[in-house]
Amino acid sequence: MFMRTLFILSIVAWAAVCVDAEPQAINATNGGTVMKHELPSLPYAYNALEPYISEDIMRLHHDKHQAAYVAGLNKAEYELQKARDEGDYAAISYWERQLAFNGSGDLLHTLFFRDMASSAGGEPSGDLADQIKKDFGSFDAFKKQFSAAAAGVEGSGWVALVWQPEFDKLYITQILNHQNGALSGSQPIMVLDVWEHAYYLQYQNRRAEWIESWWNVVNWPSVAKNLSSARSYVPERVSASM
Ligand SMILES: [Fe+2]
Repeated sequence: MFMRTLFILSIVAWAAVCVDAEPQAINATNGGTVMKHELPSLPYAYNALEPYISEDIMRLHHDKHQAAYVAGLNKAEYELQKARDEGDYAAISYWERQLAFNGSGDLLHTLFFRDMASSAGGEPSGDLADQIKKDFGSFDAFKKQFSAAAAGVEGSGWVALVWQPEFDKLYITQILNHQNGALSGSQPIMVLDVWEHAYYLQYQNRRAEWIESWWNVVNWPSVAKNLSSARSYVPERVSASM
């Protein structure tokens, strides 16, 4: 049911978990509803992640970049409904792509910010640690693979640890822009932003240094909670084999 194109529908599955403020439904121009999305607040102070992420980056990244994706998402929602009301199929195609880009941008940033904390880092424990060991061999092997995937993203994009319920397994995936290249039907549980806006003010072109610093602020309990939520969906073919 969620095997439609790429990422947007898979991340809709965790939208309710990621978005702090419940979107408001407003009347569309001609029937139907348009969702109104809000920029979620950061769960910590702007300077909480220093020295690994500067206050200036956090203010710019959250207040300007994510805010722009939320604005773009709201515009796409409105224009998409309008185009559907008018039967303008060329416009529908265009605004669906805008919805995928901006909606994925908003949701990935929400997850990215929520999965960081001060006095964090280290290694996961419990079920998350066990699943990482099962799927990657060891935490160190996983960390090396994740960092290499982040360093290898061409241009702007993300690296994500995703749970694929049909395969009952964790994967590392690269996401170009915000929405291209993801494994269909998978749920991201931990993401790292490697767009230049995420690190250039502090690390300039040293992306590898940014990646290594980021591991110090990973909020593993939050990531573990995401995995637990993702596991709540059990596909029929997996449950039948249990
Ligand atoms: Fe970003």
